[in-house]
Amino acid sequence: MSCDMQIEKEITKQMVDEAVAYLAKLLPGADTAVVLGSGLGALTELLEDSFSIPFADIPHFPQTTVQGHKSTLYAGYLNKQPLFILGGRLHYYEGCSLSQVVFPIRLLAGLGVKKLILTNAAGGVNTAFTAGSLMLIRDHINFMGANPLIGPNTDEWGPRFPDMSHAYHEGLAKTALLAAKKLDITLHEGVYVAFSGPSFETPAEIRLARLMGADAVGMSTVPEVIAARHLGLSVLAISCISNAAAGILNAELNHLEVLEAGKHASAQFCSLLEAILLKITGVALS
Ligand code: HPA
Repeated sequence: MSCDMQIEKEITKQMVDEAVAYLAKLLPGADTAVVLGSGLGALTELLEDSFSIPFADIPHFPQTTVQGHKSTLYAGYLNKQPLFILGGRLHYYEGCSLSQVVFPIRLLAGLGVKKLILTNAAGGVNTAFTAGSLMLIRDHINFMGANPLIGPNTDEWGPRFPDMSHAYHEGLAKTALLAAKKLDITLHEGVYVAFSGPSFETPAEIRLARLMGADAVGMSTVPEVIAARHLGLSVLAISCISNAAAGILNAELNHLEVLEAGKHASAQFCSLLEAILLKITGVALS
């Protein structure tokens, strides 16, 4: 199903269940999953015995169109521990409903995932950040003007009014900070604000974002975190800063720059993710 089709935008539990049933026959279970942001695809190379399934083969999976995202689900092993990696994600600006955007998260939960690691490329609102900086998301501001939980609540997924006081799991955050320290990688901490996009923000919007307390800005992740918390998953999220947000430098923004920065930061980002994954799947850091 394509995102720009006006019909079937609402994802029902039955649709998710059908996709789960399809995948459960093909894949081993996994406790942890990673969602990769723009240009951050290299992590999949670390998977052993990996099996990949195009999103298009998964029943009811809405199709993505964004350059730099791989529309593939990978299942494999990292140091003998099973892991799912989503090579790409769905965005609100593609014309997807937010219930379509969070379909993969509900699918992963249906497959037994309990810990979700979300990554993204983001603009730096905090002027201390430069292209390639990494930021652990400590909290978010949903500035998209929409919420994936709007509509009738599916009680089997979670409560009508889920708490967001601790949207980002403290233990996973500590693990990430510890892993960064051991690898001598600077991992900033901050607040991520989500705009709908697809236009980049104006300098005035970025000044507003800074006044609101944001450190990084992007067009994804927040709906996924909301759906994940609704489902009771533990969330860790890390932004790779691909550019200074609008108005900070005297430069125009473009998507290619986002992809390039992702590629450059990718080696460091991958080592950090690998170390975090080894730690949370039970294998100690060396
Ligand atoms: N704004 C919004 N989303 C982004 C940016 C940005 O500057 N950079 C990468 N994703």
